[in-house]
Amino acid sequence: MEDISKELLAKFCPPAYPGSFFLSFEGIEGAGKSTQILKLKSFLEEQHFRVLILREPGGTPFGEKLRSAILNTQTPIHPLAEVYLFTASRVQLLDEVTLKELKVPNTVIIYDRYIDSTMAYQGMGRNIGVKTILEIHQNAPLNLIPHLTFYLKISLDTSILRQEKRNQDKDYFESQGRDFYQKLIDGYDMAAELFPHRIVVLEGEKDEAQVSDDIIGHVKQLLLK
Ligand SMILES: Nc1ncnc2c1ncn2[C@@H]1O[C@H](COP(=O)(O)OP(=O)(O)OP(=O)(O)O)[C@@H](O)[C@H]1O
Ligand SMILES: [Mg+2]
Repeated sequence: MEDISKELLAKFCPPAYPGSFFLSFEGIEGAGKSTQILKLKSFLEEQHFRVLILREPGGTPFGEKLRSAILNTQTPIHPLAEVYLFTASRVQLLDEVTLKELKVPNTVIIYDRYIDSTMAYQGMGRNIGVKTILEIHQNAPLNLIPHLTFYLKISLDTSILRQEKRNQDKDYFESQGRDFYQKLIDGYDMAAELFPHRIVVLEGEKDEAQVSDDIIGHVKQLLLK
């Protein structure tokens, strides 16, 4: 594993707005992120929270342009260019939406993929290095991390099976091979080792209701804090 200093890790902090929470969901394609985000949203709304679900790249006028540029490219993007495009979109979304909305009490912001996906896809998958990803993110507003991240861990075979079932057209990332997916899993595992207090690793192979119970259990503890 790359050597990443405590000083670098200490640059990353969750928001401190009383009564508001920042969460993220991570995992490879088909891990169950979208499924579980919707279940958690229902639970939180029953508890009278205002819930916003955000997805990157995108979510702002400029970010949507970057999203279509990245996902629909017909020519290869240099891995470092890919990182900076995602990061540009992330800055805009943090500044225009996330930080503003978190100031409204009783808000929960849920990101469908965030910094751990960058560590996995660009850091490991595209060989930029996880340390470089963290260095790029060390200053505000990019150093904002969630209070809690749910990493839904599934095997590569489960991911392929679920994608086949869904039978979608493959996009830019999904058209990669097995070696690439293994690197993603290694990247998420590394993120979980680097941020053990933030990232909750959940067995995404369990059935939907069991995974949901696990998530709600952790969220209840966070809300009590
Ligand atoms: N725990 C589970 N057990 C079995 N099937 C599941 C489970 N969770 C989700 N699925 C199914 O797997 C498929 C992928 O789930 P989902 O879209 O929630 O994953 P995702 O992590 O959001 O994927 P992507 O990264 O591609 O957006 C869906 O068809 C969903 O119904
Ligand atoms: Mg999804």
